[in-house]
Amino acid sequence: MEDIDVIELMITAQVYNDNTELDESDLPPQVRKAAWNGKSNIERPLEVSTDFAEEVYSNGEAEDAWEAVERLPFTDRESMSGELRFTVDDIAEDWFLDNADSERIRDNPVLAYAYGEEFDVSYEEAAADNRPKEADAEWVHGLVREVIGEGEEAEEMLELVDIFAPEEIEQNLDEIVLTEEQEKEVKKVMKAIEHRDYLREVGLSEIGKLLFVGPPGTGKTSTAKALSGRLELPFIEVKLSMLTSQYLGETAKNVDKVFEIAKLLSPCILFIDEFDSIAKTRDSDEHAALKRAVNTLLKSIDEVSLVRDSVLLIGATNHPKMLDYAAWRRFDEIVEFPAPDERMRAEIFRIITHEVEIEDFDADELAEETEGLTGSDLRLVLREAVLEALTSDRTKLSQEDLLNAVENFEKRKNLKELDMMDGDTPLDDDSEGHSHEHGHGGHEHVGHNH
Ligand SMILES: Nc1ncnc2c1ncn2[C@@H]1O[C@H](COP(=O)(O)OP(=O)(O)O)[C@@H](O)[C@H]1O
Ligand SMILES: [Mg+2]
Repeated sequence: MEDIDVIELMITAQVYNDNTELDESDLPPQVRKAAWNGKSNIERPLEVSTDFAEEVYSNGEAEDAWEAVERLPFTDRESMSGELRFTVDDIAEDWFLDNADSERIRDNPVLAYAYGEEFDVSYEEAAADNRPKEADAEWVHGLVREVIGEGEEAEEMLELVDIFAPEEIEQNLDEIVLTEEQEKEVKKVMKAIEHRDYLREVGLSEIGKLLFVGPPGTGKTSTAKALSGRLELPFIEVKLSMLTSQYLGETAKNVDKVFEIAKLLSPCILFIDEFDSIAKTRDSDEHAALKRAVNTLLKSIDEVSLVRDSVLLIGATNHPKMLDYAAWRRFDEIVEFPAPDERMRAEIFRIITHEVEIEDFDADELAEETEGLTGSDLRLVLREAVLEALTSDRTKLSQEDLLNAVENFEKRKNLKELDMMDGDTPLDDDSEGHSHEHGHGGHEHVGHNH
């Protein structure tokens, strides 16, 4: 830790405390990280103690913040609290301005606000480049806690949803191979989010509800999450199957809370997986409380809007045949996720093997041999090959290993399908409607570039 780092932090806190027009998003992310304290706002005054400074600049090693600045004539430390202070503010400020460079100011909107002119840095450019507070895991989870509170009911609520801050999302849009059509839809929705004010102005509020349709393992969840990561929006995933397993008295209330959370976290993506289970519960002779919950959900879906509330709703289903008209009509775009064609499979192989050393690697040959397999199947094939190689103490694979893994995978798949012919599962029934037929338009193009 350098003396200037600690002084920057102290001055940042001072400027932040003195200027209430600055907010959390103006603080550098590593400062916020140490300051959230489990809440969704950072209270003033922000005080800098030695512990705090050490948290901000921790890079694994224990370092002494006081040691870094104690030789400076204008610093002081409160012995009890460890709070760091300036004995003379003006001298501290002069020292800082003499020792800082423009890069330091540019990386810190709070400083750009106060001293930008001296360094030829505008507050606007610094703020535009600073990661917004909405991307912070601490902000997202702090806010959720404030809405749902503590206790049994809160825990029940958390079983219904999984919430991710953008910084927690690992899926990368560049690593998902999309059809041309999917690529187009993704671009469209990114534009719609960006220009939602304009869409509101021209009265187009019925935009921003997508339904992802396709067999399991074709990238529906990954694409939705990757969108969240790319757009730096929180991701709220609702597990509809949890609706049926919950204590039913609270379910409708919990559904309401999910939408309340979505509106608070907005702009955000609300992802409703297993959307078909709605239809299932409506058709059958279910408990009245469950019907109420499902109706609440459908009503909330109708009421939420990307343009008005900045909530992008994405539904996903593996069983489109189970959806009735009432469910379909709630979405303004249906995005098909087919099993990947040969070109897409080759591309997926190239992406997932990126970090693996493979002798004579030939993605095209593997694609030829994997007709009908989904992206998630291809991942399983790779995993199998890697584990096989490890059993003979190899971390370097060969094309042969992968071809063997494909063969084993096909064998297991055939066994599983034999088994499923006995059971009359809905999966059998709609997998035929969603196979990899090349008859569908536009799927042969690998709409992906590095
Ligand atoms: N088109 C694709 N491109 C790259 N990876 C894919 C693709 N489809 C599936 N995968 C991989 O397969 C796994 C499962 O995908 P997932 O998004 O969970 O599928 P779904 O939600 O459609 O069941 C993920 O690890 C994902 O990266
Ligand atoms: Mg999924």
